Amino acid sequence: MNRIVQGDNLTVLQSLAAASVELIYVDPPFNTGKRQSRTQMKTIRDEAGDRVGFGGRRYRTEVLEQQNGGTGYGDRFDDFLGFLRPRLVEAHRILSPTGSLFFHIDYREVHYCKVMLDEIFGRECFQNEIIWAYDYGARATKRWPAKHDNILWYTRDPKRYTFNLNESDRIPYMAPGLVGATKAARGKTPTDVWWHTIVSPTGKEKTGYATQKPLGILERIVRVHSNPGDTVLDFFAGSGTTGAAAARHDRSFLLVDESAAAIAVMEKRLTAYAPRREDMPLPRVKKTEARRSTRAPASRRSRQ
Ligand SMILES: C[S@@+](CC[C@H](N)C(=O)[O-])C[C@H]1O[C@@H](n2cnc3c(N)ncnc32)[C@H](O)[C@@H]1O
Repeated sequence: MNRIVQGDNLTVLQSLAAASVELIYVDPPFNTGKRQSRTQMKTIRDEAGDRVGFGGRRYRTEVLEQQNGGTGYGDRFDDFLGFLRPRLVEAHRILSPTGSLFFHIDYREVHYCKVMLDEIFGRECFQNEIIWAYDYGARATKRWPAKHDNILWYTRDPKRYTFNLNESDRIPYMAPGLVGATKAARGKTPTDVWWHTIVSPTGKEKTGYATQKPLGILERIVRVHSNPGDTVLDFFAGSGTTGAAAARHDRSFLLVDESAAAIAVMEKRLTAYAPRREDMPLPRVKKTEARRSTRAPASRRSRQ
């Protein structure tokens, strides 16, 4: 069954059975210190406009306010690892014996997260650090522009895990002339560096959700690391890319996000797969705990 759940993911994770999910992919906030939102602009013909287009026509641009504020989320944590740790401990508990976790992050926090995941899963269960490389957007001029994300792959068991390499899409050889026509036509399996464009701001795949990840990346993960009929869990689901990849390859999905805007985007995107929509009640906080947390200094508060 396909499910979309609105609520804090820690509460949802605590309600799931141990060893029940074959594949977990998560793309949490990256702790960039900024608010993540996609600014949508509209260009309007206007003789008094400040932009000159084809044939000397003038235009003005307008920011679409509702979109701009609606699909964003805060991405700043006083205690990022303190926020993530209990959720990843639950993820480890929920994974099936042959299951995998894919944890998507970037250069700012990847080293801290890897040490934490080594502690939770055991160093021997670390399998790969996948580099998703892209080339889009502004280019820094004072240092090398950062154009990659990091995806850490951990398995529940160090040796026995789902890895259907033959199910992977294939990529072109860099020097096809060196390998012969048959091999060149077939392409080769990817390495741990995955070149893939970002979701095009004007393409069909775009949902308008800030930080939406490419379907091609998720499809490769789903096909290689799960089997048809399995359940795929994403508890930082955003626009539901993991759900789309799972459903396109005959897996079920369980998607969790606390944001109403994310839930709305997912429901629209995944309508064809008839997901059941659920709300997770907020955990009850004892009065004494509530008082203590309101008195805690801001610098010590985490988002758990
Ligand atoms: C980077 S986005 C995920 C984007 C997603 N991979 C996609 O392709 O659209 C992170 C998401 O985590 C959600 N989130 C942050 N904290 C959460 C929490 N405690 N419980 C549930 N969702 C949370 C945010 O609302 C946001 O939608």
